[in-house]
Amino acid sequence: MMSTRKKVGVLVSGRGSNLQALLDACADPAFPAEIALVISNVPGVYALERAAKAGVPSLVIPHKGFPSRDAFDAEMDKALRAAGIEIVCLAGFMRLLSTGFAQAWRDRMINIHPALLPSFKGLHTHRRALEAGVKLHGCTVHLVTPELDDGPILVQKAVPVLASDDEDSLAARVLEQEHKAYPEALRLLAEGRVLVEGNRALIRDA
Ligand code: GRF
Repeated sequence: MMSTRKKVGVLVSGRGSNLQALLDACADPAFPAEIALVISNVPGVYALERAAKAGVPSLVIPHKGFPSRDAFDAEMDKALRAAGIEIVCLAGFMRLLSTGFAQAWRDRMINIHPALLPSFKGLHTHRRALEAGVKLHGCTVHLVTPELDDGPILVQKAVPVLASDDEDSLAARVLEQEHKAYPEALRLLAEGRVLVEGNRALIRDA
């Protein structure tokens, strides 16, 4: 029987712990998606080793070698299409995407952000959450739109912020939830259960 698992491309720039969570989920043959390609814009990162260990093909496309963001994104797009990718996951991918790329993969590309969006878009989310004195923090998986850390929300997980927390302890508590949230969100998308209405993603029952 032909596999109906959705083919996923994961874009990374660093240690790849979220990539690992996705690889682990996809190791179950009953999971509705499989990772068919990992692309890093940075050579030598640990995420590439994780891909190799899982037997998943990877590519390094260094953004520095391209004259423009559009040219870099076009190269990624070409590689993703050549591999038959149907869903793109951004997992610690530290590059802004061009509008064209975001539009080309609209409703088929998700990102994980280490905060409860729409709070704390951008960088240093844990530091800013501590500074703001919020009592709940967390992570969000959302569909990618041309605007940074925007787009319909698929899954969120919250954690308490403790009086004793520093940036590292809070980051670790959130990361644990990221590793649960990302496979959950990928499953929803791969099963075709996400219906986008304006800014909202409606989730159909299984
Ligand atoms: C995660 O905290 C993710 O939410 C953010 O970047 C970090 C990447 O970590 N976008 P890793 O490379 O997945 O370990």
